Order: sequence, then structure tokens, then C-alpha cells
Amino acid sequence: PIRRVTVPQIAARKNDQPIVVLTAYTAPLAALVDDHADVILVGDSLGMVVHGLESTIGVTMEMMILHGQAVMRGSRRAMVVIDMPFGSYEESPEQAFRNCARMMRETGCGAVKLEGGARMADTIRFLTRRGIPVMGHVGLTPQSTLTMGGFKTQGRDQDSWPAHIEDATAVAEAGAFSIVVEGVMEGLADRITEAVPVPTIGIGASARCDGQVLVLDDMLGLSGRVPRFVKKFGDLGPRASAAIAEYAAAVRDRSFPTEEQVYR
Ligand code: KIV
Ligand code: NA
Repeated sequence: PIRRVTVPQIAARKNDQPIVVLTAYTAPLAALVDDHADVILVGDSLGMVVHGLESTIGVTMEMMILHGQAVMRGSRRAMVVIDMPFGSYEESPEQAFRNCARMMRETGCGAVKLEGGARMADTIRFLTRRGIPVMGHVGLTPQSTLTMGGFKTQGRDQDSWPAHIEDATAVAEAGAFSIVVEGVMEGLADRITEAVPVPTIGIGASARCDGQVLVLDDMLGLSGRVPRFVKKFGDLGPRASAAIAEYAAAVRDRSFPTEEQVYR
């Protein structure tokens, strides 16, 4: 079997070739992403993107494990990182270890990702010292949207920058091998990237981050309304809709199936 991208390989990409990260939740799309990305993220965004939830709060361990297993089966080269869902790691380092170990055991993933800055540093230290590779996630952290009052770009007030930089620094010092920086002012993303010794992976952040991540469905144009920081590299939504409309019309006027699609 082909060896996957390793944690040290990603960690070594600070100030190097940009790290390419995309989400995937299913085997077939993971196979497509695997041909091009260094890291496949099984994001808890799947709660909203695939399951129609209002936020990521309702995502469970079971959902992440099921999609994580599918993505592992569909890929063979990229590192697969799986999001720890809300409620599975915040209580204590021990709770986090138990659930992260289960995630690794049941999926075979290369690393886990969890949200939070300085407040999660003790937990990240506990996990990384015990063999669990952790990707951090700071800035806009969607699992805290209720306390933050919505999906709000962080660092609009420059007075808040030191606290954000401290968050990222604490996560890196605790042993995270890379850090997602989401939804922050460009200048703050640059300051964080300069401050931490591990690669930053930006989303709604800065082109100077050490890598970039997008939600695959968003960048393919499959998700309807998307935030300003998403660039639609594809426009599959309208194309899928047109194909479905054509099928429906063909069924209704009996032009499908034709002799090519029936067994005689
Ligand atoms: O859940 C997710 O897809 C994520 C990325 C957007 C970073 O956490
Ligand atoms: Na996430």
C-alpha cells in the first residue's frame, strides 16, 4: 500500500510550498481530492453540508466516524484529518483522549482537529504527548457560534489581536503540528503565521498562510450561498440541476430509456 503523507512532512512545510487541504465526506469525492491535496479534512461542516443541520453543534462522534471511514476507504495518499465534534473533547483531557483514541482506532485517520486556543492548550498537550497528532483551529471557531453571536470575522478590532496571537501560540506550544486559522482579518492571519513555528492553514485568512483549506462542496459551487472568502472554482450546482431537469423531462415524455438502455 502507498504510504500516506505524514505528520512530520506537514509540520516541515512552514514557510515552504503551500499545503493544499480540502474537505471530503464520502469515498468517491475523497478519491478525487486524493489526487491533488496533501491533506483531506473530514470537517464537521458535514453536519451542515451533508446533513442539513443549522450548525455543527448537532454533529456526533458516530457521524464523524462513519464519514471518516468512507474517506479513508476512498483515499490512499493524502493525510486524513478528522474533526472532533462539539462535546467530544472540551470536558477534560481524559475525555478528549478517550474520544480521539476511538476516532483513530475506528477510522485509521492520520490526525484529529479540534477547535479552541489557549483554553484547549492543556488538552492538546495531553493528547500529543500520548501519540495523538492534533491539528489546531483558531480564529472563527464554528462550534462556538452561539457564544460568539454568529459566524463573525475575528480581529476586526486590532485590540483583540494579541489575544488571538496568544491563542495560536498556546496551541502550537502544546504540540499541535499545524493550525487552521479561520475567518480573521488578513493582517491578523499574517501576524499569527509569523508568530507560530508550525504551518498555518488559512480559510478566510491570508494568502500568506502556509496552506489553504476550503469546503469542497463550496468551491465546486454545490452549496448555494457561501461566505465571501469562498472562491467557486467550479459551478456544479447549476449543471447538476440542468441534468436532473433533463432526466425528469425525458421520463415524462418517455424518451428515456431508449433501446440503448434496455436489455433485449
Ligand atoms: O469543518 C470544516 O470543514 C472545517 C474547515 C472549514 C476548516 O473545520
Ligand atoms: Na470544522
